[in-house]
Amino acid sequence: PTIYAITPTYSRPVQKAELTRLANTFRQVSRLHWILVEDAAARSELVTRFVAGAGLPCTHLHVPTPRRYKRPGLPRATEQRNAGLAWLRQRHQHLPPPQPGVLFFADDDNTYSLELFQEMRTTRKVSVWPVGLVGGRRYERPVVENGKVVGWYTGWRADRPFAIDMAGFAVSLQVILSHPKAVFKRRGSQPGMQESDFLKQITTVEELEPKANNCTKVLVWHTRTEKVNLANEPKYHLDTVNIEV
Ligand code: UGA
Ligand code: MN
Repeated sequence: PTIYAITPTYSRPVQKAELTRLANTFRQVSRLHWILVEDAAARSELVTRFVAGAGLPCTHLHVPTPRRYKRPGLPRATEQRNAGLAWLRQRHQHLPPPQPGVLFFADDDNTYSLELFQEMRTTRKVSVWPVGLVGGRRYERPVVENGKVVGWYTGWRADRPFAIDMAGFAVSLQVILSHPKAVFKRRGSQPGMQESDFLKQITTVEELEPKANNCTKVLVWHTRTEKVNLANEPKYHLDTVNIEV
């Protein structure tokens, strides 16, 4: 199956560095289709150029987050992930099944091992695995007994029905197509509940397929990039050339 990676991304000083790191990983994965969704009213020149030179199959979409949702404490990238889902559904709706595919939500700042893609490629419905450096712990993971998920090792909001980060699961294309209404919701979605709100529309905890050796290996890290120091950036453009960073 093809792996579809949906990546929301937004303009900021480190954007091109993040996308470069991500493309360097994705380029090493066979049959990966990158769905890059800009949080913007239009496709930016920077990302357009980047995609053209990325050297992997890529679909470049854009949708702006409404201003009222751009606030600390509110979930990020809801509209962008939904745009990726809509594109996937639209592209496949006229094709006859079976349509082998696996969908994965790949934020632009995380760190992904190549082994992760081998693991997720065998997803039948919904698969799960540990995520490193998240939830105020070294890792979070689904707790597995006799091959089934029976609970969650987490340090944060253990009341979540699926106590898992966006980077901790993959969904087969069949499941996405057979649940056409499953989307990320703004209304009522509290911080950290996006994953649960989405997953409960398409699966149950009992049904989850544990990957990464029964969820005992960390193959993805919820890394976050430090905000860059631009304290010495001149107020007006002083350089003799205009350089894209
Ligand atoms: C955590 C989770 O890992 C994310 O999956 C979740 O979307 C997020 O919380 C949340 O609060 O909703 P975190 O590292 O805090 O992640 O979030 P970011 O990495 O800053 O953002 C997640 C993704 O959305 C990134 O790919 C980022 O580029 C994108 N984003 C962020 C936008 O498209 N627009 C924004 O205004 C902010
Ligand atoms: Mn992040």
